[in-house]
Amino acid sequence: MPLSLFSRYEIGPYTLKNRMVMAPLTRSRSKQPGNIPTRLNAFYYAQRAGAGLIVTEATQISPQGQGYAWTPGIHTPEQVEGWRLVAEAVHDADGLIFMQLWHVGRISHPALQPKGALPVAPSAIAPSGRAFITNVLGEPEFVPFVTPRALETGELPEIVRQYAQAARNALLAGLDGVEIHAANGYLLDQFLNSSTNRRGDAYGGPAANRARLLLEVVDAVIQACGSGRVGVRLSPLGTFNDMGDEDPESLFGHVAEQLDRRDLAYLHVVDPSHGGHQAGDSADPRGVALMSLIRARYTGTLVVCGGYTRARAEATLQAGQADLVAFGRPFLANPDLPERFRAQTELNTPDEATFYGGGVHGYVDYPTLKQLHGEEGLPDFSVLEGA
Ligand code: PHB
Repeated sequence: MPLSLFSRYEIGPYTLKNRMVMAPLTRSRSKQPGNIPTRLNAFYYAQRAGAGLIVTEATQISPQGQGYAWTPGIHTPEQVEGWRLVAEAVHDADGLIFMQLWHVGRISHPALQPKGALPVAPSAIAPSGRAFITNVLGEPEFVPFVTPRALETGELPEIVRQYAQAARNALLAGLDGVEIHAANGYLLDQFLNSSTNRRGDAYGGPAANRARLLLEVVDAVIQACGSGRVGVRLSPLGTFNDMGDEDPESLFGHVAEQLDRRDLAYLHVVDPSHGGHQAGDSADPRGVALMSLIRARYTGTLVVCGGYTRARAEATLQAGQADLVAFGRPFLANPDLPERFRAQTELNTPDEATFYGGGVHGYVDYPTLKQLHGEEGLPDFSVLEGA
């Protein structure tokens, strides 16, 4: 059989049953108060265990790391117990699951911060756009971002330590590994990019300095988990969350080269060649060139993500441009995505209105092919309501 999405693949200590990764997807459905994963969340992930690897929704490493209403954390004992339900359900369904570790930096709001504090960032530069918070009545609301507080140099070791502790907590909960979120304009990406990092200390200025915090986090998390259980996600050329860099080729070339020395489980790149986070159809030559540069500099396992179809994913694997392909929206709307790709059949359409917050609807009630064709009944969702 030629190399395809359905061939096996080894990363670190694990064998993936196929080359399809479920991309991290924020769904804002953790239990309140406490941002705790539930049986409902466990059911959702277990439904998608046909993926070779699941990467969880972004999960805050500390209260300060939260930037959206109702996202789960991995810094309290209750959250560890909640994640244990998820890990067990996914393993029972023969899946593998890594947790995405998240600190949002400036993409937050005092309403989400301990004691109503300002969000923190490399530099005191406000993003444009709005934060997703809950008001005093607990209802969702969008409010303008504020200007964050620049972190002191002396505060950075504590943040590095929190990443390592979060990684230990993820393993304690039974997850198979972690992915360090250094993409999409959150804290580590804010340090990387020149538009958000104007620091005068050892963590600002040249690209090597801007990459320092990420590499310290990576090294601390490797110490905690072992390198084969650690992935890193980047979004070169990304503009989501008001990002930009003056010389992304130098920056991400350097980062790829540095990560290559660390024998990670994988490097996961939000592929800028088709618009990255806001994926489109046409290829962007600068994005294509940057992906080739990363592929050349990083010799380990490369995961790509961003608007991939089955056909483009197969072509990418066959051309040797990546080893694994991650799918976000297609996995969100199709719990049995691998089977559907195998059968080259129709896909359910994701419903944006139910992406964030809410319960069963738009979360675990997307039908499988078998359910659509009446070969399988629908689960009894009533047992999951309020779970
Ligand atoms: C989002 O909630 O829109 C979101 C979260 C994490 C990301 C990207 C987008 O990496």
